[in-house]
Amino acid sequence: MNLVFLGPPGAGKGTQAKVIAEKNGWAHISTGDMLRAAVKAGSELGAQAQGFMEKGELIPDSLMCAVVADRLKETDCQQGWILDGFPRTRVQADRLDETLASASLKMDHCVYFHIDQEILVARLTGRLTCKGCGANFHVAALPPKEGGVCDHCGGELYTRVDDEEATVRNRLKVYEESTAELIGFYQDGGRLLRVEAEGSVEEVGARLAAQLGDS
Ligand code: AP5
Repeated sequence: MNLVFLGPPGAGKGTQAKVIAEKNGWAHISTGDMLRAAVKAGSELGAQAQGFMEKGELIPDSLMCAVVADRLKETDCQQGWILDGFPRTRVQADRLDETLASASLKMDHCVYFHIDQEILVARLTGRLTCKGCGANFHVAALPPKEGGVCDHCGGELYTRVDDEEATVRNRLKVYEESTAELIGFYQDGGRLLRVEAEGSVEEVGARLAAQLGDS
């Protein structure tokens, strides 16, 4: 299955995508993870993206679309994929449709994670991310077994620079201004599945599985 996960920062897209992609053998394509890896590696892409990311702004469409089009050609995408954090603008959504059409591929569903904004601030300011494998934890909702250490790879946990409260609020503003219109775009095209993203990780996962199973 080929899926797009859409929703505001902190809605749980990455948390659910990691689980469902591993379970089904699909590629989990997180544009945020790709950009953070590029910054860490000191690549040209990382140098171009870093300033935008630190302020919670979107990086330019042309750059992002090219990165995703290349990523979708990789062999691990043949069994299916989840695009997590892309598209984020109408230009990106149109370019994605063009890229898929030219490769005779299609996106099966856009899964929209619906959630109240104030819950998002608490989720993001409490997030802990693994420096090694990128896994996400939360100080209260999903604490690691041992403080500061990743359960999966033993890597060090850190707080993302864009998870400071002021930057979180700017990311939510950017989402409303640039990304929220995609809900209507996919709804009108009959491609939207809506999942209520409040509740525990397990509860949201169960709702998501039911939606995908029933679709
Ligand atoms: P990105 O990394 O994509 O950040 P984001 O969209 O802001 O998404 P998040 O990772 O913050 O949220 P999420 O929904 O995945 O939540 P998560 O599962 O982690 O992008 C970062 C930056 O890169 C952007 O600001 C931009 O600059 C750039 N960028 C990326 N893509 C781009 C694009 N397409 N175009 C232009 N620029 C782009 O969960 C959050 C926290 O909540 C975690 O701590 C988790 O443990 C916890 N949690 C999850 N689910 C639950 C639950 N059910 N209950 C309680 N806690 C939960």
